[in-house]
Amino acid sequence: MSKSLDNLHAVQAAARLERVRYAIRDMAVLAEQLVREGKTILPLNIGDPLNFDFHTPPHLIAAVEKAMRDGRNGYGPSLGIPEAAEAIRAEAERKGIRNVQSVFLTAGVSEALDICLTALVNAGENVLTPCPEYPLYSAILAKLGTQPNSYLLDEKNAWEPDLEDIGRKLNSGTRAIVVSNPNNPTGAVYSRPTLERLAELARQYNLVIFADEIYDKLILDGELPASLANLAPDVPVVTFNGLSKSYLVPGWRVGWGVVSGDAASVKPYLEGIHQLLRARLCSNHPQQYAVRPALEGPQDHLIEVRAKLRARRDLTVRACRTTPRLSCVAPRGAFYAFPRIDIPDSDEQFVKRLLVEKHVLMVHGTGFGQAPGSKHVRIVFLPDEATLTRAYEGLRAFIAEHYA
Ligand SMILES: Cc1ncc(COP(=O)(O)O)c(C=O)c1O
Repeated sequence: MSKSLDNLHAVQAAARLERVRYAIRDMAVLAEQLVREGKTILPLNIGDPLNFDFHTPPHLIAAVEKAMRDGRNGYGPSLGIPEAAEAIRAEAERKGIRNVQSVFLTAGVSEALDICLTALVNAGENVLTPCPEYPLYSAILAKLGTQPNSYLLDEKNAWEPDLEDIGRKLNSGTRAIVVSNPNNPTGAVYSRPTLERLAELARQYNLVIFADEIYDKLILDGELPASLANLAPDVPVVTFNGLSKSYLVPGWRVGWGVVSGDAASVKPYLEGIHQLLRARLCSNHPQQYAVRPALEGPQDHLIEVRAKLRARRDLTVRACRTTPRLSCVAPRGAFYAFPRIDIPDSDEQFVKRLLVEKHVLMVHGTGFGQAPGSKHVRIVFLPDEATLTRAYEGLRAFIAEHYA
């Protein structure tokens, strides 16, 4: 018997998804509609270098192809293949990370974050996340039924974490703090004293540190950042990294976590992480054969990547600083800028109209969280200079037309 249409009920998504935002992809949906109408979009929205003039180093493709031809197509070990784990451990040592208790491979940093947060927090507890943030942190925490608890990044202080705000936000349910350095969406690279003070806070309040360092090889000028785990060998730290950004293979989904800290204190937590790693069977198997060649082979591509990014960053900062109503802290790492916009409308209205009228695609600051009352846009400066120049001309014209 067929049901009448009236009897059909819409299948509702879980209420916990209300806190999951992914403005980056949401804006892309609007852009796709314009593309279908025949418009050419200038995309300054998604952090995938492979959409632009960046190419995967050929020796990494050869390593994965060989692994596939050699029959490494079955399930792999749950924590990852030993040769990749050894290369990651050696890299951690080069960064001065001591007390390494476990290394494991995952489907990108994304899966590592999901597993490590899931293994730690109970419903009702909370994790300090940055504001603005890479939205996946809060999406996972929403799924886990935790209370949102974000700390401000201080635009007036080069977007460094506001330590006083962290002090105010800490409470008896706080289990961990997420530190994204170099930072998405601001491009900030934190100073050593700030990292030392974060380590001290974690020590004092028994927090686990989640150090997302996926952009640590994309430093555009100034000192190399210290690894938080290096500054806090006694504190439980999970350092996240992977091949997506620095080795130009985001679609391969290769990431990892390195757990460091006092062996006895991290033991129960590690058992939880390992349990979840076993439950999901394994990470992408043949792609793991690219890890050792990536970390130990030629690094020449990084010189070219950084040179391109430096020029594109400079162009972006110049454009922001010479366009009325925009102001920008110069990014020092990664490929993001987070300029402030001084307009009466919301930043979401701003980016939507900019897209429709000038075909320039950026993401509104609200999609990342921002200090109350402030408005921003996030710019991905991966496109070549000609594309960026056209996009910034469109932006300038749009501001002149609507906000002169
Ligand atoms: C700060 C940060 N962490 C993690 C990720 C996800 O990385 P992966 O491709 O390794 O899952 C991204 C991707 O943009 C990111 O910006």
